[in-house]
Amino acid sequence: MTPASPWTTRPAPRRLSTADIAARCATPAFGEVLTEHMVSLRWSAGDGWHAGEVLPHAPIAMDPAMVGLHYGQVVFEGLKAYHQPDGSVAAFRPEDHARRFRRSAARLAMPELPEELFLESLAALVDVDRAWVPAADTRSLYLRPILYATDASLALRPAREYRYLLLALVTENFFGAGSPPVSVWAGTGYSRAARGGTGEAKCAGNYAGGFLAQAEAAEHGCQQVVWLDAAEHRLVEEMGGMNIFFVVDGALVTPPLSGTLLPGVTRESVLTLAARAGLAVREQPVPLADVLAGCADGTITEAFACGTAAVVTPIGRVVTEEGEWRVGDGATGPVTGRLRAHLVDLHLGRAPDPDGWRYRL
Ligand code: COI
Repeated sequence: MTPASPWTTRPAPRRLSTADIAARCATPAFGEVLTEHMVSLRWSAGDGWHAGEVLPHAPIAMDPAMVGLHYGQVVFEGLKAYHQPDGSVAAFRPEDHARRFRRSAARLAMPELPEELFLESLAALVDVDRAWVPAADTRSLYLRPILYATDASLALRPAREYRYLLLALVTENFFGAGSPPVSVWAGTGYSRAARGGTGEAKCAGNYAGGFLAQAEAAEHGCQQVVWLDAAEHRLVEEMGGMNIFFVVDGALVTPPLSGTLLPGVTRESVLTLAARAGLAVREQPVPLADVLAGCADGTITEAFACGTAAVVTPIGRVVTEEGEWRVGDGATGPVTGRLRAHLVDLHLGRAPDPDGWRYRL
């Protein structure tokens, strides 16, 4: 027997005119310009996934004793959708984001949203908010799925009821149009994730735990913090909201997925594109001391951040308590520039897509 569809069909009317949408999107700093609708699905042990709806984006009711609020049972994703030359809209690697969302949920003892519901939710939201998908090259529609525990109970156990929401926002590149080189702070004494912890899950608490270090980065004139391993504070792991790569003697090097860092979908895309372009690619431990020495003696010629929000953003300067090091000449290097261009061409439907990464919505 086919299971009943979890979706209800109440239409969510569009409210804003094209001119109003354009006005709202005049300067879309990351996170600030949300679209008009959201998708909602609920899960309970008895009913599984149900009550799927497209709703106006609006505040949600929640019980103050909600498990997600008190014990942090919250996971999320971030992926982007882009206008294509034929007028359609395509999400980038949504199946991979769906899989990571499931893994994150499993790590936090939450129910896993089936991949087809994840994809259906994207299609439902883009369908009603299509007018919000920006046409400009450096802008995109950022999709933010989130799953949180809704039980009104302070019992210290996994919740029995959950809500999935999908929001969308219009965004410029995370670090601004043109993706200028950023400076990174590698001097924090805080740690992001220890072995056996939740570092490889995209859970809300990982980000809250990073805010103080991120504030330190800003005090040192940097846009991002570089996290080092929690045991010895010796090995580079990732950054506040993205993965990190170096160009060392012409090879592309990034820390391995040790369980403490986020397995970025963009990270994996960059590794694939670089290897296909004939670059030597190595996933290996990266001691911070080697990064600083490599910047000083010129063996490290480039470094960049990569993630859904950041795409590929050059790193021009590394700062620690001991001093600061310029990476290469501090500008966007050729490897970074080529990888970024290839990735953006794939996003925008300007490059062939042999891996089927674009998913039409
Ligand atoms: C993304 O790149 O999508 C992220 O989730 C990081 C963001 C919170 C800055």
